Amino acid sequence: MIDRSRIDYFTEDGSVEAVNARNAESMDPRLKEVMTSLVKHLHAFTKEVEISQDEWNLAIDFFTRTGHMCDEYRQEFILLSDIVGLSMLVDAINSRRPKGATENTVMGPFHIEGAPEYEMGANITLQGKGATCQFVGRVLDIEGNPIEGAKIDVWSDNEEGYYDVQQPDIQPLHNNRGVFRTGADGAYHFCGQKPVSYPIPDDGPVGQLLGHLGRHPNRPAHMHFIVSADGFDRVVTHTFVDDDPYLTSDAVFGVKESLIAQFEPVENGETEFRSRFDFVLNPA
Ligand code: BEZ
Ligand code: FE
Repeated sequence: MIDRSRIDYFTEDGSVEAVNARNAESMDPRLKEVMTSLVKHLHAFTKEVEISQDEWNLAIDFFTRTGHMCDEYRQEFILLSDIVGLSMLVDAINSRRPKGATENTVMGPFHIEGAPEYEMGANITLQGKGATCQFVGRVLDIEGNPIEGAKIDVWSDNEEGYYDVQQPDIQPLHNNRGVFRTGADGAYHFCGQKPVSYPIPDDGPVGQLLGHLGRHPNRPAHMHFIVSADGFDRVVTHTFVDDDPYLTSDAVFGVKESLIAQFEPVENGETEFRSRFDFVLNPA
């Protein structure tokens, strides 16, 4: 006979305990920590705002449409994480560094593995009509010594605000992408386009949510960098164009003061602009 007096049936007040008590003793300890806390906070949130049945239905429909929007090139769940600041929070927790080391920011969904590796100085723009820009700087350790053999993986949008992977029928694959390796002086330089601000993909449920929140979908103009070297923390970051109107209202909260770079006009140069930025890597 089951002793029913000892069973915790689900109640509004005892909802968290009822759910968490079901977990097996033997479960993975980290999964237990994460799920126990998730249930606690999810139930507290639901009780605080007293979610109605219609709102629950709306949420299920929203997440269903978010899933249906995803494919090899479109990750609507990452966009959702980005616009609520979750991506930047996870990044902040996982990239705490001493002062002076280059700060991380959000990776975004448009990085691809296998971009061509170029000789230092190459032009990564395969096709484009935008303002040309030379990117220059050094990769240094925290004491200011040059790092030899650092890998610099870069990507940016074109003059219309689109990455190559968003326009496979218009832009050649690997347009405005490339990989470079530093020599003994730790220096890098390459040519590309001066990035422009652009809206994150907003033709799906995340864009609709932004609209309901009265928010715009734009990101300030930026160049993406992943800088890595043996024995150092990998930096996933951008440099931001210093006069961009969206610097203070980035749709995904990616801007950090230390990452704002000057893009200076160049007279009679190979390119119309030059942007100088040094990356400082923290020991692993
Ligand atoms: C990006 O910078 O490429 C990006 C970041 C977050 C969402 C969408 C795009
Ligand atoms: Fe971007």
